[in-house]
Amino acid sequence: MNQIASATAIANPNIAFIKYWGDKDPMLRIPANGSLSMNLSNLQSRTTVSYDSTLERDELILDRKVPDDLAVERVTRFLDHVRHLAGISYYARVESENNFPTGSGIASSASAFAALSLAASKAAGLQLDERSLSRLARRGSGSACRSVPAGFVEWQSGEDDDSSYAFSLAAPEHWQLYDCIAIVSQEHKKTGSREGHALAETSLLQNARVGDTTRRLDLCRQAILNRDFQAFAEIVELDSNLMHAVMMTSQPRLFYWQPATLAVMRAVVDWRRNGIPVCFTIDAGPNVHVITLADHSSRVIADLIQIPGVSKVLVSGPGKAVRLSVE
Ligand code: PMV
Repeated sequence: MNQIASATAIANPNIAFIKYWGDKDPMLRIPANGSLSMNLSNLQSRTTVSYDSTLERDELILDRKVPDDLAVERVTRFLDHVRHLAGISYYARVESENNFPTGSGIASSASAFAALSLAASKAAGLQLDERSLSRLARRGSGSACRSVPAGFVEWQSGEDDDSSYAFSLAAPEHWQLYDCIAIVSQEHKKTGSREGHALAETSLLQNARVGDTTRRLDLCRQAILNRDFQAFAEIVELDSNLMHAVMMTSQPRLFYWQPATLAVMRAVVDWRRNGIPVCFTIDAGPNVHVITLADHSSRVIADLIQIPGVSKVLVSGPGKAVRLSVE
């Protein structure tokens, strides 16, 4: 008779306001610097893990399709760690679905590994607290550790597996910040963040960026806690520009922007000059995360969609912590 133990979890992706770029330890994903982010309420990954005594290997279904071998291998390596922690040996069937379009250029690894951490550990009989769950998610994808706690989240870089985890700075209700993601390309990125982190050290600018992180984290943390949009906007744009300066000057160089990326950046800076609370931040891709306050979001979305090259805008407020699905 086969034995099955199953659990389903839901997690939101997050947008970093102070970015993680480069690793001190790429195996354990101990980052070169601390980072700070907000979970995105309207976007989610929903993942079911079922350990089954009759399986001969792990099986993975992503958005109703069988993904390439590399993706399966990455999940198997992750599940091996969970099996080791729980002292079990059964393989698992993993089904994961995103409610945002695949290939929309929105990184799904953060929400996918946060949801996988909770579903896989729960189904294996583990009761991990938030810190342990965040440390576990970090092994799948660094930024996934920030999708474990709720709302506004800081990842303290730490020095080792025990000390590198994320925690909530403020609940989702603390500040009604909206992320209006201007989609300018739906292409899959040519260089993923995994290869990108490995290149960070080849840029002359990485040491300067990392050396100044404590100052930027302090400014961003204070701006969020005080709900000071002007201070927040200045530091968030500076941090995004610093990360892209490192990317552009690494060897080989990484250049993620497209003409429409720059058009959105310029428009956002103009709007802010004209009194609208709005700023931009960009991850390892061409799409622009335009951050504003809830009251201004309708106007910002309407204006963004007018910019040539912007095909659509996805909108989210601050999201919750990773959670089990009760259905
Ligand atoms: O977690 P990863 O390996 O996908 O890296 C995320 C890198 C950025 O999105 C560019 C920055 C960040 O802090 O989220």
